[in-house]
Amino acid sequence: MRAMRTLSIDIGGTGIKAITLDLEGQPLTERTRLETPSPATPDAVLAVIDELVKVQHDFDRVSVGFPGVVKDGVVKTAPNLDPSWDGFALALDIERRLGRPARVLNDAAVQGLGVIEGLGFEVVITLGTGLGCAVYVDGHAAGLELAHHPFRKGETYEECLGNAARKSAGNKRWNKQVRRAIAQIEALFNYRKLYIGGGNTKHLETSELPANVAVVDNVAGLLGGIRLWR
Ligand code: BGC
Repeated sequence: MRAMRTLSIDIGGTGIKAITLDLEGQPLTERTRLETPSPATPDAVLAVIDELVKVQHDFDRVSVGFPGVVKDGVVKTAPNLDPSWDGFALALDIERRLGRPARVLNDAAVQGLGVIEGLGFEVVITLGTGLGCAVYVDGHAAGLELAHHPFRKGETYEECLGNAARKSAGNKRWNKQVRRAIAQIEALFNYRKLYIGGGNTKHLETSELPANVAVVDNVAGLLGGIRLWR
């Protein structure tokens, strides 16, 4: 009998990605990606997942990273998708649709699970369409909605660091904001280590980052999927 395979799905504001993992969290397939539909209603997003599953078909269970607050498999917020997600029982829907057990967690929290050391206080932020954040104490995750808290001059972290802000301010000013945010997050949390992931890390100037800050590969967003089952 072959070992358990996990389909890991990362729902993002811009792209929806999928990969199949072995028990150690090693990829068994190529990562596949499709654009996030607009409007990104539950039906439209789930139709994209159906498409991805046609390629990633040989799996026994499903992990999903979702870009908002998720409680017990039910979506509470989805700031960069469609408002109609509020109250949607995503874990149950995926289970019915794909016929396998499913677990759903905040996308930044899943991303962190793929990269943290599991020691002491660690923090993950993700720079993508939105601003993701999760904290870990000895490897135990809690999602943190830092994105919508005030950061500077009446604007939230996401308003200053999200992709829309990067596009309108340009990469130079956006990088300055990221460095300011890191300083503020360090003063607030006194973390042992901060990890920065997400698709916009490709625009990050990494030479001046403090020693306890690591930039991590965006594929980690999917590799963390295996840890939802531990
Ligand atoms: C949401 C977070 C999410 C982040 C990245 C934010 O707008 O509030 O829950 O993790 O975007 O997708």
